[in-house]
Amino acid sequence: MNESTFAPGGGQPGTTVGSVAVRTFESRRAETTTETQPAYAMAPFNDDNDLQDGQFYDPDAEYEPDPEYAATLAPDAARQRRERVGPTGRPLPYFPIPNPLTDHGPAKIVAMCNQKGGVGKTTSTINLGAALAEYGRRVLLVDFDPQGALSVGLGVNPMELDITVYNLLMERGLAADEVLLKTAVPGMDLLPSNIDLSAAEVQLVSEVARESTLQRALKPLMADYDYIVIDCQPSLGLLTVNALTAAHSVIVPLECEFFALRGVALLTETIEKVRERLNPELELDGILATMYDSRTVHSREVLARVVEAFDEHVFHTVIGRTVRFPETTVAGEPITTYASNSVGAAAYRQLAREVLARCHAE
Ligand SMILES: Nc1ncnc2c1ncn2[C@@H]1O[C@H](COP(=O)(O)OP(=O)(O)O)[C@@H](O)[C@H]1O
Ligand SMILES: [Mg+2]
Repeated sequence: MNESTFAPGGGQPGTTVGSVAVRTFESRRAETTTETQPAYAMAPFNDDNDLQDGQFYDPDAEYEPDPEYAATLAPDAARQRRERVGPTGRPLPYFPIPNPLTDHGPAKIVAMCNQKGGVGKTTSTINLGAALAEYGRRVLLVDFDPQGALSVGLGVNPMELDITVYNLLMERGLAADEVLLKTAVPGMDLLPSNIDLSAAEVQLVSEVARESTLQRALKPLMADYDYIVIDCQPSLGLLTVNALTAAHSVIVPLECEFFALRGVALLTETIEKVRERLNPELELDGILATMYDSRTVHSREVLARVVEAFDEHVFHTVIGRTVRFPETTVAGEPITTYASNSVGAAAYRQLAREVLARCHAE
């Protein structure tokens, strides 16, 4: 482990990451969950199975300490309660607290992918990962962007790293363990990257089976994790094709802005090609609407268009726009720890439950 370079901002260096802390969390969850529902059960959204802490966007509820951000979701929250619809305009299912796991793996690999930059890929990778880890899942985040934003967002200085995911791809015989970093979030590890990775794109071209290099590199890690989330770079180049080849499913974050859908056709075409030629298992897990502000007609219209285009592929969970997210990047930690009670944290926890519910429903 190259631990020396890892200095999580505001985190707890030296925290024992892994089963001990996770189990503590799980057992606390287990105590508060009266019924053991299967993880895929989607109970109707009614008053009897009322909201638990942090489960839904509900700016009026007592747990809401972030009024500035709550305002961004207010109109929909009122409608949600009245009509029991979510921000996507569809009935909002109930996503139960996932059951604790007794053992871990094999991992489900998810690629966070959109060739457009600034849509929330990195933010979603960190925070979905941290929320899954809170629910007792063992999570590995893979920084697959030479800019290293995921590593920075977790308090790592990529410039100081000698060994990164690049070495794992290019050097046969290098153990993944030597590249792995523990994060301040118990149960969540990181394969960091830095600018070195940009060379891989060129060097891989002459390799045999160049598209499945990442898949081969991740194979020995599959048994140790429940989820591996790959933060893709903003392009549809060879690195992204590697991520799609390694993945079981893709999450596509879409910013609720005017040109959100532009380029998505090209992305779905790429996903389709990878499925046909390289990875028949690959599925579109979902479209994740990000930076949503229900106060603006514009944001609501864009979301309506996205739902029109992708229907049930759009996650019920929608991530609102809040300055809390840029703040977390500076702090070098996920929003689930930086502002644990914020609606932003609640949104990613709900996304984690939705992802788990979808996975179990398959
Ligand atoms: N829901 C959000 N509300 C406000 N700002 C956000 C949100 N999600 C991400 N951001 C900010 O937008 C910028 C781009 O997000 P990022 O996750 O890095 O996108 P990508 O990885 O797709 O380029 C970052 O500064 C991030 O902090
Ligand atoms: Mg990014």
